[in-house]
Amino acid sequence: MIVRLEGVSKEYRLGDQRILALDKTDLVMNLGELLLIIGPSGSGKTTLLSLIGCVIYPSTGKLWVNDTLVNDLNQNQLAALRLNNIGFVFQNFNLLAPLTAEQNVLMPLTLKGMNKKEAQQKVNEALHLVGMEDRRKNLPKELSGGQQQRIAIARALVSEPKLFLCDEPTASLDKDSMHVVMNELRSLADKGKAVAVVTHDPRLREYAHRIVEVNNGIVTETNDSSKLSLS
Ligand SMILES: Nc1ncnc2c1ncn2[C@@H]1O[C@H](COP(=O)(O)OP(=O)(O)OP(=O)(O)O)[C@@H](O)[C@H]1O
Ligand SMILES: [Mg+2]
Repeated sequence: MIVRLEGVSKEYRLGDQRILALDKTDLVMNLGELLLIIGPSGSGKTTLLSLIGCVIYPSTGKLWVNDTLVNDLNQNQLAALRLNNIGFVFQNFNLLAPLTAEQNVLMPLTLKGMNKKEAQQKVNEALHLVGMEDRRKNLPKELSGGQQQRIAIARALVSEPKLFLCDEPTASLDKDSMHVVMNELRSLADKGKAVAVVTHDPRLREYAHRIVEVNNGIVTETNDSSKLSLS
C-alpha cells in the first residue's frame, strides 16, 4: 500500500461560501495497480488526485503517502515528498512557459541533482516514449494541446516515480496516442508502480485494475471484474 486515505475530505471556502469538493473518503492505492478515477465534471476528481499527490492538504481525515502522514508535513517537506515519489500530470499541463519541451522534462532530474549525462539519457528516453523527440527545442506555446500533454507525461515519467498520477492524460489526444499513453501507464502498473488516472472517458475502463467513481464529491469503488480484461 502506498497511499491511504482515512476519512479525508476537502472543503474550499470562498468568502461566505463553502464548497465541499470531496466528502469523507476512505481509499487505498497499491503498488502494481492502475486505479481509474471516473466521474462527471465538477465531481471532485482533481481534488481527490491533488490530495493523493500532496498538492493540497486535507480539510479532515488522515492521509498517508509512502508511510508518511501528510497532514503533519510543512510545504517544504511536502515538496520533497512529491519530488522523490510522485509524478503528476496536471489537467492544464503546468509546463514552464520560458523553458523548451526538453528543459521541462529535464527539470525534475535537475532538482534531484542527477548528473547531466545520465539525466540527458533519461530525457531522451522519455521524449522517445511519447514521440516528441523532434519537438524538443520548442517552447510550450509552440506546441499543440496534445503535444503539451505528451511533454507533461514525459516530465512525470522521467524520474521513474513509484506513484504516478494523471489528470485527464488523454483528453487532448487522438485515439492512437491515447492507446500509446494508456498502454504505457498500464505497463508501469504491471511493473509494480502505483498509477491513478482521472478521466470522464469510459473507454479507459479496460486499462484499469480497479475503478472508483466520483459523484458530487462522493467516492464509490466499483468492483466490475469484467473490465479487468488486460490482467
Ligand atoms: N481552488 C478551489 N476553490 C474553490 N472551489 C474549488 C477549487 N477547486 C475546485 N473547486 C470546486 O470543487 C468542486 C470539485 O472540483 P474538481 O476540480 O475536483 O472537479 P473535477 O471532477 O476535477 O472536474 P473536471 O472534470 O471539470 O475537471 C467543484 O465544484 C469546483 O468548483
Ligand atoms: Mg478536474
